[in-house]
Amino acid sequence: MLYSAGVEGRSDREAAVGRIETLRREIDRHKYQYYVRNDPRITDAEYDRLFRELKDLEEAFPDLRDPNSPTQRVGAEPVEGFPKVEHPVPMLSLGNAFDSEELRAFDKRVRSLLDDRPVEYVTEFKIDGLAVALTYEQGRLIRGATRGNGRVGEEVTSNLRTIRAIPLRMRADHPPRLIEVRGEVYFPISSFTRLNEERVAEGEAPYANPRNSAAGTVRQLDPRVTAKRALSFFAYSIGHFEGTLPVSSQLEALRQLQDWGFPATRHFELHRDLDSVVSYCQTWQDRRFSLDYEIDGIEVKVNQFEQQRLLGNVSREPRWAIAYKFPSPTATTRLLRIGINIGRTGTLNPYAILEPVDVGGVTIRSATLHNEDDVRRKDIREGDIVVVKRAGEVIPQVVGPVAERRTGQERPFSYPERCPECQSPVIREKDGAMAYCSNRQCPAQRLESLNHFVSRGALDIRGLGLKRLEQLVKSKLISNAADLYDLTREQVLELDGFLEKSADNLLNSLEESKRQPFDRVLFALGIRHVGESVARLVTGHFHTLDRLMAASEEEIAEVQGIGPEIAGSIVGFFRVDENRTLVERLRGAGLRFETEAPIDHGPQPFASRSFVVTGTLPGLSRQEAKRYIEERGGAVRSSVSSNTDFVVAGENAGSKLEKAKELGVTVLTEAELRKLAGES
Ligand code: IVH
Repeated sequence: MLYSAGVEGRSDREAAVGRIETLRREIDRHKYQYYVRNDPRITDAEYDRLFRELKDLEEAFPDLRDPNSPTQRVGAEPVEGFPKVEHPVPMLSLGNAFDSEELRAFDKRVRSLLDDRPVEYVTEFKIDGLAVALTYEQGRLIRGATRGNGRVGEEVTSNLRTIRAIPLRMRADHPPRLIEVRGEVYFPISSFTRLNEERVAEGEAPYANPRNSAAGTVRQLDPRVTAKRALSFFAYSIGHFEGTLPVSSQLEALRQLQDWGFPATRHFELHRDLDSVVSYCQTWQDRRFSLDYEIDGIEVKVNQFEQQRLLGNVSREPRWAIAYKFPSPTATTRLLRIGINIGRTGTLNPYAILEPVDVGGVTIRSATLHNEDDVRRKDIREGDIVVVKRAGEVIPQVVGPVAERRTGQERPFSYPERCPECQSPVIREKDGAMAYCSNRQCPAQRLESLNHFVSRGALDIRGLGLKRLEQLVKSKLISNAADLYDLTREQVLELDGFLEKSADNLLNSLEESKRQPFDRVLFALGIRHVGESVARLVTGHFHTLDRLMAASEEEIAEVQGIGPEIAGSIVGFFRVDENRTLVERLRGAGLRFETEAPIDHGPQPFASRSFVVTGTLPGLSRQEAKRYIEERGGAVRSSVSSNTDFVVAGENAGSKLEKAKELGVTVLTEAELRKLAGES
């Protein structure tokens, strides 16, 4: 090892201190060149080498680690919700202008309020992302928050730290004591497209647009997920500041931010009159599709801070700036047919198959139609000429039909009576919005749920995409997820396209999936409404499958963040015999159905004992009694059976007590329960 501890430890350590500092500065400098100046000075490989060297050193000397080191962007442990932070200076929103007339009216207002003194404007891209405020103390990032309602936001520091374009340390020998930098976190289109391609390949629904997924990613409870997604950042203003501001205009502020290492919005420009502003807006309205991020308009700001101050704010909007909003690109085309996809939970998802059309530089062939209600409300018919819009969304929308162009040949849409894949009857939800295939064996649905099971966020079984799964199903080797774990090497080798290596890889991958944590396993089961975060909440609360399966709908709904609909869906899932069998087979195969380290509540005197609580106990509410028992390893059930070990009965106990006596189940008072738990 390069840096060994021991007698020479001290001098090695000293050398490491110096080298670590140099590496951190070097890496920050290259990042600045890359993100701010757009002018990298070293190759990616060279950069990686510096990075690796720093990482090795920090591993060898853990006490020299620093949360603001460039290596610390990998993402910390997940957090429980986000603390609220009050913005020292409110984060305001801006009024909008939708055409040049409205821009001129804004200019007129500004000039008249400033007694017709000359005014300069700065124009900047209005990035379609998520506004954040970054606080630096002595040049080090100490806090990052979302805009929230403008007054109070959420503290998302660990997530923002993972965004490479956000400097963890400012580039300044004498940074301001305290400064808040504001800007927009966004998803570069290229990374967003890649993420969506991966999602589609894994059978997950693609995200609708970069803005929403950027916002969702920043508000992700697990920073490791944020770290995996390549978000970026542009700075556009200085919020709170302690000391004197070294700048007196927006233009100077943007330049100063760049000097400090923040990427400012590109192509900002100073204008001496409104004509120049209008022409800038028009130029970028046409050119915006050449950018690797979405801009939905241009921010027009009075340049001089003194003039900004004179203009002030009205009702939470500054009078010194306005957002010119681009119109969303639209086009008309013929809707050829309405197709149906079957989702993994059996939902019928309608989509429009369109005559290909160019919308703002992109050829569109299909568009989402959320559900039948939506189609009805908009009165969209097969054969219609429709208006399609790309409003930032990657998946375009059908705005509505051009009714005047109807010929009478158009066909109104309704869900088919039978599933287009398996011909089984379709079930309509009570409110009529959604429809499901009634056949749990529906091949399309099975395939989608298998695909979900193996997907990256779930059990992450490499080497099994939709095609492979279809092949396994067709050859009758599998029909559900548990069958995957019965596959033998010989069986896999018999399939087309599998060689020794790929077969072994698949079997290894299956083996590895047995180490996935309980929350992923629960998510993989594909229970309706149980996404990754719900799965984490549920497993974090119940810890074991047995406890979860024994829980009632009400008990599940008591978990913070879980509503009755989710709870009903979970209980409903475990009520189905076929699902219970599947789960038991998966458990038998070695998948994890317990959290890794159940919270240590001390000794477990009630381990593997089942209890029923009835009547009013003197010292514990029903909930407290339940928790008391569960914390000591017992399971609390709602009805008495011959499997019940104890019934804890209080005052006014009714039929459950009778039943216990009938079955000869031991009845305890609260005092006896406590004694059994070892209390004196
Ligand atoms: S200045 C009071 N500059 O757009 C000043 N905002 O239209 C308000 N935005 O919520 C912000 N790019 O999140 C400013 N270059 C830019 C921006 C920008 C995007 C967002 C910002 C705000 C909204 C205001």
